[in-house]
Amino acid sequence: MEPVIVWYLRMSVIYFIAGVAVGLGMLLWPSESGYYLPVHVHLNLLGFMSMMIYGVGYHILPKFSGRHIYSPQIVKVQFWMANAGLIGMAVSWPFHISGDIPVAETSLILFAVTSLIAIVLFAFNIMKTVKSM
Ligand code: HEM
Ligand code: HEM
Repeated sequence: MEPVIVWYLRMSVIYFIAGVAVGLGMLLWPSESGYYLPVHVHLNLLGFMSMMIYGVGYHILPKFSGRHIYSPQIVKVQFWMANAGLIGMAVSWPFHISGDIPVAETSLILFAVTSLIAIVLFAFNIMKTVKSM
């Protein structure tokens, strides 16, 4: 398996543990839970679930369609953007909700855009891989 694909899977399970730990924290400290709900949700869904799908998809879909990944370079760029975007969102979100640090809103938006670009790169690369467009 390509090292970068192993890294997608590795980060996926790290986000799983982190996301579930935040969820447990929300149960233990319900008064703080409002700050961390979007962190919990996105670590689990954009971290664990999406990162697992990226890794498994990049490993399996080219084999199913008898092709090579369209752009191995995009796989790597997407990896860094998806991780930077998600970690940046997870750190910015509680500060944005609390309103303590005004710049948190700007940083949340910038990291959200980074996450979105990573998603678009995945969509483009995987579609180009499974079908000539
Ligand atoms: C030990 C495991 C987990 C714990 C303790 C936990 C805990 C929580 C808590 C306390 C809430 C807030 C509920 C509320 O007050 O409305 C929540 C919401 C949520 N959790 Fe988890 N969670 C866990 C695992 C997961 C996993 C694995 C996923 C997804 C793959 C997930 C997805 C969500 C979502 C989407 C919401 C928001 C639901 C809504 O929109 O109201 N959780 N979780
Ligand atoms: C670029 C990527 C994404 C961005 C920028 C984003 C942004 C947001 C924002 C701003 C909210 C509202 C949070 C609030 O103030 O309550 C939200 C909620 C939510 N998002 Fe995302 N999201 C992204 C990706 C995803 C993905 C991929 C999933 C699922 C696979 C997802 C699932 C959810 C869910 C379940 C909620 C409701 C959580 C709640 O109950 O508060 N998001 N998202």
